[in-house]
Amino acid sequence: MSKVHVSATVNGEDAEFLCAPRQSLLEVLRDVLNLTGTKEGCNDGNCGACAVIVDGVLVNACCVLGVEIEGGRVETVEGLARDGELHPLQRAFLEHTGMQCGFCTPGFLMSSKALLECNRAPDEDQIRHWLAGNLCRCTGYDKIVRAVQAAARELEGAP
Ligand code: FES
Ligand code: FES
Repeated sequence: MSKVHVSATVNGEDAEFLCAPRQSLLEVLRDVLNLTGTKEGCNDGNCGACAVIVDGVLVNACCVLGVEIEGGRVETVEGLARDGELHPLQRAFLEHTGMQCGFCTPGFLMSSKALLECNRAPDEDQIRHWLAGNLCRCTGYDKIVRAVQAAARELEGAP
């Protein structure tokens, strides 16, 4: 099957690539653009391990086609740190031991970023509700919730 030429912005940089019409955005990120921070868990929209932000909207990259991002703006976990500085969420996940295994953490970070972009001061229930689409099969969510609250405070400039 012939491939399609796609142009998009990925983590603030222009990106052009060829992909098959049936290739998912997750496959494009990992296999074509070598951005392997975005993880494949279920590959059917249920775990959130592949969460990325497209044009400001949180999506599961396994449920989006690569060709659908033509002209779009994609943010992945690789784009969180800037100029060698961790994003406040990454720092908070470290400080509050919110980071867990390498499979679920990128998705939790991107989901949390999307949350704080639409709700700068979410309460605990709102954080837990928002992160319900990110599954961790091993441990609890308490430290992640604390980390998101700490990052929200930092982003708001509060102590
Ligand atoms: Fe996409 Fe699980 S891998 S939701
Ligand atoms: Fe990542 Fe459980 S799935 S720590």
